[in-house]
Amino acid sequence: MSAGTNQTGGTGSGLVKWIDSRLPIFSYMQKEYAEFEAPKNFNWFWNFGAILTFMLVLMIMTGIFLAMQYTPHTGLAFDSVERIMRDVNFGWLLRYLHANGATFFFIAVYIHMFRGMYYGSYKGPRELLWMLGVVILLLMMATAFMGYVLPWGQMSFWGATVITNLFSAIPLVGDSIVTLLWGGFSVDNPTLNRFFALHYLFPFLIFGVVILHVIALHVTGSNNPLGVDPKGPQDTVPFHPYYTMKDSVGLAVFVTIMAAFVFFAPNFFGEPENYLEAAPLVTPAHIVPEWYFLPFFAILRSIDFNIWFIDAKLAGVLAMFGAIGVLFILPWLDKSPVRSAKFRPMYKWFFWILLLDCIILGYVGGKPTDDAVFAGAAWFKIIHLGYITTFWYFFHFLILLPLLGIFERPKPLPKSISEAVLGGGTSGAAATAKPMEKA
Ligand code: HEM
Repeated sequence: MSAGTNQTGGTGSGLVKWIDSRLPIFSYMQKEYAEFEAPKNFNWFWNFGAILTFMLVLMIMTGIFLAMQYTPHTGLAFDSVERIMRDVNFGWLLRYLHANGATFFFIAVYIHMFRGMYYGSYKGPRELLWMLGVVILLLMMATAFMGYVLPWGQMSFWGATVITNLFSAIPLVGDSIVTLLWGGFSVDNPTLNRFFALHYLFPFLIFGVVILHVIALHVTGSNNPLGVDPKGPQDTVPFHPYYTMKDSVGLAVFVTIMAAFVFFAPNFFGEPENYLEAAPLVTPAHIVPEWYFLPFFAILRSIDFNIWFIDAKLAGVLAMFGAIGVLFILPWLDKSPVRSAKFRPMYKWFFWILLLDCIILGYVGGKPTDDAVFAGAAWFKIIHLGYITTFWYFFHFLILLPLLGIFERPKPLPKSISEAVLGGGTSGAAATAKPMEKA
């Protein structure tokens, strides 16, 4: 879009103007994406929203072409995937892009979320923007889980069996829910069919929620690494060309790294067991989910004891969903008036500890619970590490964050973005002096 907006809101000339005066999509794009004022101090972590948008489109496109060759039937699914790999023109590329794409989609979404946590982007007035993000995360998880079942390999089948069975822990209605999910009395053809139908549908739901996410973003404006609101035009730049260029560079780097895996190590994130066709009578020795589910899987397994009257299995399921539930209420758990961790000396440390905790949870989720953590200390097992890291996860959100809001003494905030960017130092004003006011 090169042309500017005219006084009636129309854009450009000729056909564009004709369309725009009837359906103002061009002037909308101009206003919301080209002229949109964004803080001038974004760092590279602000690239991930654009990267995620690209990944969502890539996943939908490759998925649609895969679906043209895939057969959702227990007797044919595995072979249809092999056929895609061997006989369909560029089928291998489509499949490897889609499978590795899921991994890179999750890498990007986790970086995007931790960015939000570090810089306090979930705080007012962006609470709803954050919560829509958590809805997207849940939808992404459901989509990825059902997609993994489709190739009908051993891990597809057994992963689906283990995870769907979790719902049986729900009192009274649990078994009926599982029967409904399965469409029968075990994971079988009806299960594969409904998972295929939903796996096709959910990305479009995600697309819808992403639109709401971005609308919410454009109402509040973006946060930035300092967490202070722009005070005027001196603190912002138009999105185009500044951030369209920066986003393009970031995207190119990200896609290059992904391409390295797609072309040179396409099965790096895969599970060898899934190259064996599903066999309901042969249980694999270790049933592990994909890496991006491992921290949640670790939390599920770490609650292997009853909590009061709640049975261990149900408690594990509740803890697993609770791990995402705490993210929903995060804006209200963190009471500190300062957004960015740059100015929060204690929070900054606990942020890094939480990140480490999540990585260890991922490690725990991928190991058998009875294994020793260190070769020399057989008494210290993976399950013990799971207890500690699960405890810390909830302790961080439910206890530490509310307390930090009371006891932490933040550093002084800069008066404005320009002042900090141009090296004017900080104002010396108390950090708690209305740090989250609107510009
Ligand atoms: C398909 C997945 C997603 C897409 C396409 C997406 C897209 C975007 C885009 C384009 C932006 C603006 C650019 C940027 O700040 O990076 C953004 C910002 C944001 N997103 Fe997402 N997002 C997704 C998932 C999530 C998730 C899972 C969360 C959190 C749970 C989240 C939380 C946020 C927040 C808090 C902001 C505002 C950041 C700021 O201004 O500092 N998003 N998102």
